[in-house]
Amino acid sequence: MLEVAGVDVFRGESQVLWDVSLRVGPGERVAVLGSNGAGKSTLIAAILGAVRPSRGDIRFRGQSLVGKRPYQVARMGIAIVPEGRRVYRDMTVYENLEMGAYPLRARAALRESMDRVFSLFPVLAERRSQSAGSLSGGQQQMLAIGRALMSRPEFLIVDELSLGLAPLVTQEIFAALDSLGEGITVMLVEQNVEMALRHSQRAYVLESGRVAREGRSADLADDPEIRRAYLGL
Ligand SMILES: Nc1ncnc2c1ncn2[C@@H]1O[C@H](COP(=O)(O)OP(=O)(O)OP(=O)(O)O)[C@@H](O)[C@H]1O
Ligand SMILES: [Mg+2]
Repeated sequence: MLEVAGVDVFRGESQVLWDVSLRVGPGERVAVLGSNGAGKSTLIAAILGAVRPSRGDIRFRGQSLVGKRPYQVARMGIAIVPEGRRVYRDMTVYENLEMGAYPLRARAALRESMDRVFSLFPVLAERRSQSAGSLSGGQQQMLAIGRALMSRPEFLIVDELSLGLAPLVTQEIFAALDSLGEGITVMLVEQNVEMALRHSQRAYVLESGRVAREGRSADLADDPEIRRAYLGL
């Protein structure tokens, strides 16, 4: 579904991604792991058309995304839950979700999508009239995911779901993503290696802008080198 092939990305003068290649098949849960500054968010920016690779190609359903604008990429069915959630704090939960349904095909299904988000995260239904700024961090993450789902994506990218959240609520939100089923393909971009490996089928490890490891998540979770470097074991 998504293929990143030999991508180099510069930010200003410095190269941030080096020959990055990865694939995500339809319905898969794939994790992109790496510590601070490894280049995870830059990879997402390249997929979304916010930065342009200087080399390589990024294809979605066989169509190149390179040179497309972020709104065009969104229209193709790719949605992002950005790092730090970025909900509209002064707007209500309901209004935030409405904002997510901006593509034309999503507008038509707004009611149905809203019901789906509310059954995925019942607390958002209870708080639909409250301002997003009054929600807890975990609830804001639920809202950011809900807002992305309102655009009816086929491909969902979540950047640092776990950031700043307690383990229990992180666990709950990952479980909600698991329950979406194969109709939505998910790329989990995470510093929380343990959690991400548990909720993905395959994973790639970025180190200093290069893919250092890739494989089945269950295998990587058992790998002594990964356990030492990322799991503190
Ligand atoms: N707009 C920018 N201009 C210049 N350099 C940047 C820019 N954004 C990121 N970088 C640099 O690119 C490298 C990769 O950053 P990036 O944000 O992609 O990493 P990350 O893996 O998402 O890290 P984190 O886990 O902290 O979110 C870092 O060295 C960072 O300083
Ligand atoms: Mg990042």
